[in-house]
Amino acid sequence: MRLQELEVIAQKMVAGNRGLLAADESTGTIEKRFKAIGVASTEESRRAYRNMLFTAPGLEKFISGVILYDETIRQKTLSNVPFADYLTGLGIVPGIKVDKGAKPLANSPDEKITEGLDGLRERLQEYYKLGARFAKWRAVIDISENIPTGYCIRANAQALARYAALCQEAQIVPIVEPEVLMDGAHGIERCAAVTVSTLKAVFDELYTHGVALEGMILKPNMVISGMLCPHQASVEQVARETLRVLKERVPAAVPGIMFLSGGQSAELATAHLNAMNVLSNHPWKLSFSYGRALQAQSLEAWKGQADRQMAGQKALIHRAACNSSACAGTYTAQMEKAA
Ligand code: 13P
Repeated sequence: MRLQELEVIAQKMVAGNRGLLAADESTGTIEKRFKAIGVASTEESRRAYRNMLFTAPGLEKFISGVILYDETIRQKTLSNVPFADYLTGLGIVPGIKVDKGAKPLANSPDEKITEGLDGLRERLQEYYKLGARFAKWRAVIDISENIPTGYCIRANAQALARYAALCQEAQIVPIVEPEVLMDGAHGIERCAAVTVSTLKAVFDELYTHGVALEGMILKPNMVISGMLCPHQASVEQVARETLRVLKERVPAAVPGIMFLSGGQSAELATAHLNAMNVLSNHPWKLSFSYGRALQAQSLEAWKGQADRQMAGQKALIHRAACNSSACAGTYTAQMEKAA
């Protein structure tokens, strides 16, 4: 591992109030998103959609990296440039989702374990040649009355650490993504407690596996009320609780924390990130790595129609600009109205 090169990439991912566009939906997930707007999911429609996103004029001002899916990293722009090369040319770092999805955890069927370690070393070498300089692996921790179990948290933390060590060996920056889901009726306190346990297990395993913290990015959930909880915590409370938990569990050597949106509305995901950056006084850069919260409005504006490409791009740039302001703590609700 050449740590300095990994650090340079990780720093670039969080510099200049920029964040990541997570566009790594698996074929099954993008099909669901397309279905909602009445678009058939084909290799060509998926390429047209990603082409619309990646060629949005000015994207590089707000976006430092894009997470691609296996099919997408092999696809090209409409002018026949591989997406990874096109993005690199703009100063946007291409990344790749390398996990193979969350599957039922043996002996605890209500929980999930993320698969994809077999053959990962070889896949990472290929992705590096295709231009990827960072990768992503998502573990999911669900909350209900009797879960998560310590078994599920440990198993997922160990897989995340094995993945991260393999990435660094291949000169690829690992995004370590332990997502405590916001589904359910639990309150913010429960989310905080489960997030603390999860991050503790993850950093224990990262240490055991010799992962260099300077050459990784953490992509956690925010500490937030469950979606069905009748008492939704305020923006301020989410910001304070999230920072409290992160300060307790995330070493200062980690260069950046880039949050997932996890089902929050686009505006709320921006407001939460902004509130955290307003509070300041934290050792890492706090930025975004949003999928749905960056894409939902753009997808809706595009609707799969070539003549609506500009509308889709405008919606994406607006969200990206709002989130970039949130990285600086200068986002205001007026920015939404101005658009
Ligand atoms: P969401 O922001 O939609 O949660 O997606 C981010 C992501 O990459 C999930 O793995």
